[in-house]
Amino acid sequence: MQTPDIESLLTEKRTFKPDPAFVKQANWNRRKAAELRKLGEKHPKRFWAKMAREHVTWFSPWKKVLDWKPPFAKWFVGAKTNVSYNCLDRHLDGPRRNKAAIIWEGEPGDIRTLTFAQLHREVCKFANVLKGQGVKKGDRVALYMPMIPELAIAMLACTRIGAPHSIVFGGFSAEALRDRIEDAGAVAVVTADAGWRRGKPLPLKEAVDNAIENVASVKSVVVVKRCGPEVPMRAGRDHWWHELMADASAKCPPAKLDAEHPLFILYTSGTTGKPKGILHTTGGYLTHVTTTAKAIFDLKDEDVYWCTADIGWITGHSYVVYGILANGTTSLMYEGAPTTPGPDRFWDIIERHGVSIFYTAPTAIRTFIRLGDEHPKSHDLSSLRLLGSVGEPINPEAWMWYHRIIGGKRCPIVDTWWQTETGGIMITPLPGAVDTKPGSGTLTFPGVKAEILSEAGDTVKPPDGGFLAIQQPWPGMLRGIWGDPKRYRETYWSKWKDQKDTYFPGDGAHRDKQGYFWIMGRVDDVMNVSGHRIGTMEVESALVSHANVAEAAVVGRPDEITGTAIVAFVTPTGGTEAGDALNGELRKHVTKEIGALARPADIRFTDALPKTRSGKIMRRLLRDIASGKETVGDTSTLEDYSVLAKLREADEG
Ligand code: WTA
Repeated sequence: MQTPDIESLLTEKRTFKPDPAFVKQANWNRRKAAELRKLGEKHPKRFWAKMAREHVTWFSPWKKVLDWKPPFAKWFVGAKTNVSYNCLDRHLDGPRRNKAAIIWEGEPGDIRTLTFAQLHREVCKFANVLKGQGVKKGDRVALYMPMIPELAIAMLACTRIGAPHSIVFGGFSAEALRDRIEDAGAVAVVTADAGWRRGKPLPLKEAVDNAIENVASVKSVVVVKRCGPEVPMRAGRDHWWHELMADASAKCPPAKLDAEHPLFILYTSGTTGKPKGILHTTGGYLTHVTTTAKAIFDLKDEDVYWCTADIGWITGHSYVVYGILANGTTSLMYEGAPTTPGPDRFWDIIERHGVSIFYTAPTAIRTFIRLGDEHPKSHDLSSLRLLGSVGEPINPEAWMWYHRIIGGKRCPIVDTWWQTETGGIMITPLPGAVDTKPGSGTLTFPGVKAEILSEAGDTVKPPDGGFLAIQQPWPGMLRGIWGDPKRYRETYWSKWKDQKDTYFPGDGAHRDKQGYFWIMGRVDDVMNVSGHRIGTMEVESALVSHANVAEAAVVGRPDEITGTAIVAFVTPTGGTEAGDALNGELRKHVTKEIGALARPADIRFTDALPKTRSGKIMRRLLRDIASGKETVGDTSTLEDYSVLAKLREADEG
């Protein structure tokens, strides 16, 4: 028998059937799900067209559902719509008008609620502010903000006038922000003086000032006053949000945008040092996120839905803002850290706001397991009716804890697999229709076709592992990498040369006998740290940009809480002393270059890195050393055996 490319060791036998009471009220019950799954299999375009008609309001219809010239797709060709119209205006004529669209809680405990009518008004005003700043349809606007309502307002205002936004997570450094602003050619930046994080103001305006020094494209900076520290304001360029809003008109009709009009760019890590600007467009993305949110989270008008992701990541784009508001659902937004002021902050929020749907990441779940059951147990979590997981593989034990302690054994868990590039959820249980198994994302969403392929492109038979492959286009798919069509084709559509319709997500996976998908993690040089993608190359280039570093190699090692921890092997330049001082300085340096999220957990100094004769760093060996594993496999191409021995000695010593 041929050895599988990736071996799967996990065998999980527990199965959970949807609760009959849940099934009875589910948006998609077994019968509906089965019908739609069949339609999606036989006629995927017909399926998505039906979803587009049912979940999105269009100003004018499409002429063609899909125009597919691999790897370039156009969905709902010729149709016109507007995302902010779908999230706001269409809810204003009925009982949702005065219902909460956003319930927001700041870290210090301040609370704001915006109804759909109020949010609509703010969005129209800010859209006029953007126009007043010279922002035109097609111009890019960078948003570097804390988790405050103004972030959602700014996003929706951009979509209202057809100015694609590029949101940069507030944890990224000024340097990382500059790269992203430059790459997107943003004309305006919206930010805040600072945002609250663990009781301290995290400065943002200061980082913007550093980032845009000498960046010619940026003409205007709008600053929300959130925390109150003094920040320098440059006359002519910088403006206070509240001052501009005071004079703005609340009338702004939504632009009638082509279904393929760019909606946003979101940067994500890849296998080279340069992040990729993932481009999403209007109609297909909106169809995908609205449909999946309604079906998978079983959204109802009475729900209070809370996704804990920061809007700076794709999860926040699709399932804090767009997919949720487009369904007229109340979205709860929380500004701060999960354990501030105490370890029960999340459970306290759920109890006080009566959260009914809760969507979070395995890292958070594992952190809470460690903090102790007494914290969730001291709160009434009976308002919850559905739980979700996203961002990384969830280990079965964490799944079981989530099920028992948070879900009180009554809530279905939807473990949703997807990516920045896919725009919306791709593999997931349907909570009223699909039996779940702890650790499995179960099946594809109807209309999505996935398989496990070998390196050669053959279908891998269960239970062997291989590469996850998506075998046909879907409406929320990325339309490209900003400014780099070649990299788009090479990264995602070239793994299997004779399968031009097949997208390669970069994950390893296997299927069990029932056809369920089990995601095993990244197979490329991208690490998933606390559910955030960080490229090993990005951290390496940050390290070698330090004057005392000659060479660096970065790998991930398994970590109980964060999934993966970053380990850096560093060769200092001649004469540099390798020790705690340099270690501390390098950690600071990476924080400055990328952000604290990329700071290595361990830095190990070495005279030389293990390399093949052709000069390639042997990452597999480094990964084994980093995780304390015995080195297995062929090392005959090692240029210098002693290097390996030395690294291991250092490890033992
Ligand atoms: C991983 C986040 C296992 C995967 C939405 C993917 C998951 C990467 C899951 C995308 C899941 C996401 N089970 N792994 N349910 N969800 N991943 O772009 O490796 O930040 O490729 O999008 O996270 O991360 P991204």
